[in-house]
Amino acid sequence: MRMTDLIAVKRDGGRLSTEQIDFMVQGYTRGEIPDYQMSAMCMAILLRGMDEQETLDMTMSMVRSGETIDLSPIQGLKADKHSTGGVGDKTSLVLCPMVAACGLKIAKMSGRGLGHTGGTIDKLESFPGFSVDISEEQFFENVNKIGIAIIGQTADLVPADKKIYALRDVTGTVPSIPLIVSSIMSKKLASGSDIIVLDVKCGSGAFMKTVDQARELAQGLTRIGRLAKRRCAAVITDMDQPLGHAVGNALEVKEAISVLRGEKEGDLLELCLTLGGLMLTEAGMAADLEAARALLLESIRSGAALRKLAEMVEAQGGDSRPVFQPELLPKAPVQLPVYAGRSGTVSRIQAEKVGLVSMHLGGGRVDKESPIDLSVGVVLEKKVGERVQAGDCLAVLHAPSQAKAEEAAELLKACFEFSDGEVEKPSFIKEIVR
Ligand code: URA
Repeated sequence: MRMTDLIAVKRDGGRLSTEQIDFMVQGYTRGEIPDYQMSAMCMAILLRGMDEQETLDMTMSMVRSGETIDLSPIQGLKADKHSTGGVGDKTSLVLCPMVAACGLKIAKMSGRGLGHTGGTIDKLESFPGFSVDISEEQFFENVNKIGIAIIGQTADLVPADKKIYALRDVTGTVPSIPLIVSSIMSKKLASGSDIIVLDVKCGSGAFMKTVDQARELAQGLTRIGRLAKRRCAAVITDMDQPLGHAVGNALEVKEAISVLRGEKEGDLLELCLTLGGLMLTEAGMAADLEAARALLLESIRSGAALRKLAEMVEAQGGDSRPVFQPELLPKAPVQLPVYAGRSGTVSRIQAEKVGLVSMHLGGGRVDKESPIDLSVGVVLEKKVGERVQAGDCLAVLHAPSQAKAEEAAELLKACFEFSDGEVEKPSFIKEIVR
């Protein structure tokens, strides 16, 4: 078999066989196929597409490229969640303890943040001493005992995705639905959970700009999940503004805690109730989304979800006191309010740019090794659809110094767009795909 022939097949709109796809994925992972040939193939796939069987073959071949996690030492069904990436997305911090408090096991692997989106692992490290580097035995034991553990991704999980994604990132081939599906689903399948729910973001701050594109991705993801014998569902959500109000590691933990304490409603809570509802119904633990919602809300009302977060933090070596006293979380030395220069209705808050403001303050990684400041970020005071008067506070910057805060204030003002008339609050949950 020769890679040049496979590239020509795809270039001309043909389909690749299971063996041809495996040859390509394993050959590229082992370094036997050069970057330039794999780049040409990714571009051919982006332009010509792949059918369902090809996408499944690519996904399963990527799963086989490295280690897979066997969660069978954990009793009962295990659930996992994936988001296609968003600014201010602290969903896992709320969703996972809530679902675990309802009795469904969460054995989750999460990533660190790179660039303007933060990772769950970085956020959890706002609890002093919290460690994601626990042994596999400890991971299984924690989930069996308390129902939840969140750890870092092992280095050898789907090495094919690490190489292919890095190549796609620099060759303009990220926005291909079959390539996104195989990238996401290979990691989720290799991580071993029985139930996978997916949050597919849609809008200016996301890969998928329209609901139609997001639906195509959501259907692709759930179909591959089901073909691989997992229970799978997806939610399409709006990313035309950051999720919730806080962007920045410890600030997002604080917001997640206030949702778990029942002090905060809105888009973040709604998303967690929907994703959690899909998990519980797929697990057969609730008859429908309404019944699941009642169970999840009760986990907040009773304090069980908040206690579950504290149990997880402690079981992974962390200090859980900030769960009950959020003022103990890392705090930036400077808080600078940013005021509206005009009156009007907020029509858009560019999510990606707000993420970059947080990164500018030191809250995001420039490269894989760079340290991050857990305390900094942005707390939005106004969201899309809200009226403001000139001089009203739009957001508060949490910064390491006055100078940094003042620089960031200019950048943050540019993220807000206004309209003179009324602006409808966007419907946050666009669709459910099962
Ligand atoms: N997230 C992934 O993990 N992979 C993609 O290809 C796109 C988003």
